[in-house]
Amino acid sequence: MRSENDFEGLRVAITGGTSGLGLALTRLFARSGARVAFVARTAAAVERTAQEIGAHGIVGDVGRKDDIYPIALQILTHLGGPDVLVNNASSLGPVPLALLSDTECEDLEQALAVNVLGAFRLTRALFGALAASARDGRGAVVVNISSDAAVAAYPRWGAYGASKAALRHLTAIWDKEEKDDGVRFLSLDPGDMDTPLHALASPETDPSTLKPPEDAAAEIAEAIRASLRHGREAFRPVGSRA
Ligand SMILES: NC(=O)c1ccc[n+]([C@@H]2O[C@H](COP(=O)([O-])OP(=O)(O)OC[C@H]3O[C@@H](n4cnc5c(N)ncnc54)[C@H](OP(=O)(O)O)[C@@H]3O)[C@@H](O)[C@H]2O)c1
Repeated sequence: MRSENDFEGLRVAITGGTSGLGLALTRLFARSGARVAFVARTAAAVERTAQEIGAHGIVGDVGRKDDIYPIALQILTHLGGPDVLVNNASSLGPVPLALLSDTECEDLEQALAVNVLGAFRLTRALFGALAASARDGRGAVVVNISSDAAVAAYPRWGAYGASKAALRHLTAIWDKEEKDDGVRFLSLDPGDMDTPLHALASPETDPSTLKPPEDAAAEIAEAIRASLRHGREAFRPVGSRA
């Protein structure tokens, strides 16, 4: 049985677990005794990360509709159903970043496919298992990784910013709809981190001015811990009500 105070035995699924924030989260949860399944597209990196961390690696592209059920099935088979899903994998859209008037429709489509539809489809595919976790009193949390570009209108960040704004709003509505049943949805902005994605978007930035992804992962883990605790306190399964 999982302790109230740590992540021992928690079942965690993370998309984009081979680099940056997702890798830091995968390491943090695995080190804390959680059972972790993570997803990324590059098979060699998935295998390397799985071996290094002792987590279950899944090769898949969350931006591809046909990959979603195989990914969800592997998560369910390996974890027996997640208590926590972190939709972290992300597409920038056009690289180098481009003005909207220079953005190809396909690049906008890709940002929406990964950042919005991918997160939506995977959450839908796992929702029954998350709701069962909540009913069992384990708590259930979906974290959708956001960005300041979801709220600020940065020139050249149009495809990414619009997709992250949509994801943020989706998260807020989903949380209102499901919180009475104990499934919580969080939209969390990790801040500017020293990762390959940031280097791709802003190659001119000095990486030493950026946050280590491990720091952002620790903050996100704390938010998950608090949400699980509140969720378990606020939601009492029917059979356990006084
Ligand atoms: N870095 C920042 O400063 C910053 C700031 C604000 C928000 N964020 C957000 O933080 C999150 C993590 O970003 P990061 O900087 O850590 O990125 P990163 O270092 O580029 O890592 C991205 C991870 O996602 C995987 N991935 C990418 N596309 C995927 C797809 N379609 N399906 C499955 N896996 C996929 C990558 O592996 P493969 O390429 O092998 O698939 C990799 O494991 C993102 O949601 C990003 O928008 C980042």
